[in-house]
Amino acid sequence: MKDTDPIQSAERIVSLIDVDKYFGTNHVIKKFNLHVNQGEFLTLLGPSGCGKTTILRMIAGFEDSSSGMILVQGERVEDKEAYERDVNTVFQSYALFPHMTVFDNIAYGLSVKKVPKEEIKVRVKEMLELVQLLGFEGRKPDMMSGGQKQRVAIARALINNPKVLLLDEPLGALDLKLRKQMQIELKRLQKKLNITFIYVTHDQEEAMAMSDRIAVINNGVLEQLDTPGRIYKHPKTKFVADFIGESNLFDGAVKESKGACSSVVLETGTVRLQAGSEEIPKEAALIPDRDITICVRPEVMKYSKTPVEGFTITGVVKDVIFVGSQYRTLIVMDDGYEVKVNRVKVDKEITEGDRVYLYWDPEDAIGIGTGN
Ligand SMILES: Nc1ncnc2c1ncn2[C@@H]1O[C@H](COP(=O)(O)OP(=O)(O)OP(=O)(O)O)[C@@H](O)[C@H]1O
Ligand SMILES: [Mg+2]
Repeated sequence: MKDTDPIQSAERIVSLIDVDKYFGTNHVIKKFNLHVNQGEFLTLLGPSGCGKTTILRMIAGFEDSSSGMILVQGERVEDKEAYERDVNTVFQSYALFPHMTVFDNIAYGLSVKKVPKEEIKVRVKEMLELVQLLGFEGRKPDMMSGGQKQRVAIARALINNPKVLLLDEPLGALDLKLRKQMQIELKRLQKKLNITFIYVTHDQEEAMAMSDRIAVINNGVLEQLDTPGRIYKHPKTKFVADFIGESNLFDGAVKESKGACSSVVLETGTVRLQAGSEEIPKEAALIPDRDITICVRPEVMKYSKTPVEGFTITGVVKDVIFVGSQYRTLIVMDDGYEVKVNRVKVDKEITEGDRVYLYWDPEDAIGIGTGN
């Protein structure tokens, strides 16, 4: 019964079961259920204010839940103090002690536990090696860069050998280049140490690059928990489709289904959708009249100057913009919806003001509301 009983499961290192959190009358976390596996890099991803920090703080013991259960290594922790839980936290604002050297900052947790001085020396050195800061032990935090300070903060948390490391936007203060470098370093550290990371970010690219699984949160509700690939290919809700990657979204209703292929009627015309592809499993019946949202990623969106069978939607080319690695074409439909098309090469056949037929390979469209 391992799969259904988190209390019995050794692999599930952190579990939240039906957790609710109110601040006064403000219901910020809603019936939240999440199981985190041992050794996993799990990311909580969602827009500002959706409740990510609150969830971390409840796991860490800095915030009480209003109801529900929180388990760490199979034991309920709601009544345990933060220091009694086998988790450590790294915050966005390093929270280093400014008057202490790097060595003393990292050694802090062990000094408090009265670990012998010789052992502290050895373990701090190991940590400095791990975060590639050997030689920095005598410096004070204000003599270091943001990335270096963050590595000290991580070393300071890791030296306690926590079972779980909670990280709240740890790279938020860094510039893009350093951030990308630190993403790789953090991921490497996590795999090497086989510590469970619960990581918070509102940056979807960062979440995609680092995580084994992502929990997408919207307004205190867990919208989807899945691998980065499945979140991108099988978004279960409109929110997820829109928040992860870029998407063109069309609301409509199924008109008819022939075999795996369905015609879908939008307000602006008819389009096609293929069930039985990787995106839409066969068992997801495309029932006539059923409301459906179609998500088409900009890289698979197509257009043509001549009509394409099964598709009757059109738009006018508004702009072709070079965005560094690719060309982005914006096509405005008659209802004002702006369709995004991404291409590696510029298409010399079309210019601004051209009317084009919009279409896609039916198996490239993702049906939301099909039960996928
Ligand atoms: N101590 C508090 N008292 C009252 N309301 C709070 C408190 N802390 C957070 N909230 C509210 O709870 C909601 C969730 O906040 P939280 O800090 O968890 O969001 P977040 O997802 O971490 O956002 P961000 O990405 O901006 O850090 C917000 O509406 C916030 O205003
Ligand atoms: Mg936050």
